Amino acid sequence: MEKFKVSGPSRLSGEIDLDGAKNACLPIFCASLLSSEELNIFNVPRLGDVQTLLTLLKSLGVEIEVDFERKTCVLNSKGLCSNIVSYELVKTMRASILTLGPLLARMGEVKVSLPGGCAIGQRPIDQHIKGLEKMGADITLRDGYIDAKANKLRGARIVTDLITVTGTENLMMAACLAEGQTVIENAAREPEVVDLACCLKSMGAKIEGEGTDIIRIEGVEKLIAASHRVIPDRIEAGTFICAIAACGGQIFVKNFDRKIMGLAYEKLKSCGGEFLEVNGGLKVKFDQRPTSVSCQTSPFPGFATDMQAQLMAVNAVSDGIALIDESIFENRFMHVSEMQRMGADIKVKGRTAIVQGKKRLSAAKLMATDLRASAGLVVAALVADGESLIDRIYHLDRGYVNMDIKLAELGANVVRIRE
Ligand code: EPU
Repeated sequence: MEKFKVSGPSRLSGEIDLDGAKNACLPIFCASLLSSEELNIFNVPRLGDVQTLLTLLKSLGVEIEVDFERKTCVLNSKGLCSNIVSYELVKTMRASILTLGPLLARMGEVKVSLPGGCAIGQRPIDQHIKGLEKMGADITLRDGYIDAKANKLRGARIVTDLITVTGTENLMMAACLAEGQTVIENAAREPEVVDLACCLKSMGAKIEGEGTDIIRIEGVEKLIAASHRVIPDRIEAGTFICAIAACGGQIFVKNFDRKIMGLAYEKLKSCGGEFLEVNGGLKVKFDQRPTSVSCQTSPFPGFATDMQAQLMAVNAVSDGIALIDESIFENRFMHVSEMQRMGADIKVKGRTAIVQGKKRLSAAKLMATDLRASAGLVVAALVADGESLIDRIYHLDRGYVNMDIKLAELGANVVRIRE
């Protein structure tokens, strides 16, 4: 298994070029299942999860031409020949559930493995299923699989019990080919949902209200060929800003877009430092120890749960005390015990972590448990004194393109160890 060897403390300076957003790219690739014409995607990130999804789509008969150097991918689902998504593929990546809505809408019958729990929580998919049932699908759960049938999905009014990102995306995709109008209330407003809607609209879908909590979709007969450019990854941007806040230094974040950052941007600014938005990006400079910043994770535009571990690492070396409430996932504090092993002063009470900032952390051997926890550990290791070894770095590679190389270019001492 690959590891990162991080020798700290580092001071970072230079420029970082954001890659395309993983959580926008994955649903957009699944949208190709809705059409029998070509979908041309730009700004495709070379990520573990993207590669897993391409393997899955290939197994369904999708023709794929991917060029990671040029960050392009052409998907063509005219020869779709299977409607079964196996446990083997879903267990390695939960986002595989995003095939459920489009496959059902296009093929009328589908069998997709239930994802089960994961490292950050139980993560049920009841809202995806309830919504599709409202649209007339006949769904049974058997042998760990979702069996869904619908000769023709019908438009419906769906009010989800809670805000779900992939749930909204699955229902929005299914509704594109349903008969009549679908209204999704309590919809997720994440920029990645908006990006998917933009892509679907360029494929000929009729969608209104994306980015608000009510999305209206008027079903169409078919979707057509289209091109789309994936938005930059706001979580990658936030992660690198956390690294600068913790370590000090100066970076220029190219392609930075404040509008898609939500509250995370305001919280990062509250850590201190200088933030200057200029044409084409953001300059961030930290000369002093950061200030502690409390947060509660919540759906967009609230503070993103995907930034919680990284901000915790900053708080671990900040001046003051921070309270971090994780309200989205019930088990997303796996990084805490690893940060404690580096000397961080963190106490967890229920879904709140109390972080008393310390001037210094010390290096340790660390274990990555999930994608964003790994990112938090990398930030902590960059600022810690000595040599940290972070194991199971494959979690990080699922969602960050070449994080080791990008950090090394900023002057960090990070080496990937291949065993
Ligand atoms: N939930 C239900 N029932 C459902 C759906 C969700 O109870 O049918 C609950 C979940 O258990 C969770 C909450 O609702 O407590 C929100 O979950 P959501 O469905 O919004 O999460 P997701 O769609 O599975 C996406 C991202 C995650 C990100 C969350 C929250 C993708 C592929 N994944 O997951 O990204 O943390 O939204 O913003 O878009 C990551 O990139 O590291 C990652 C985990």
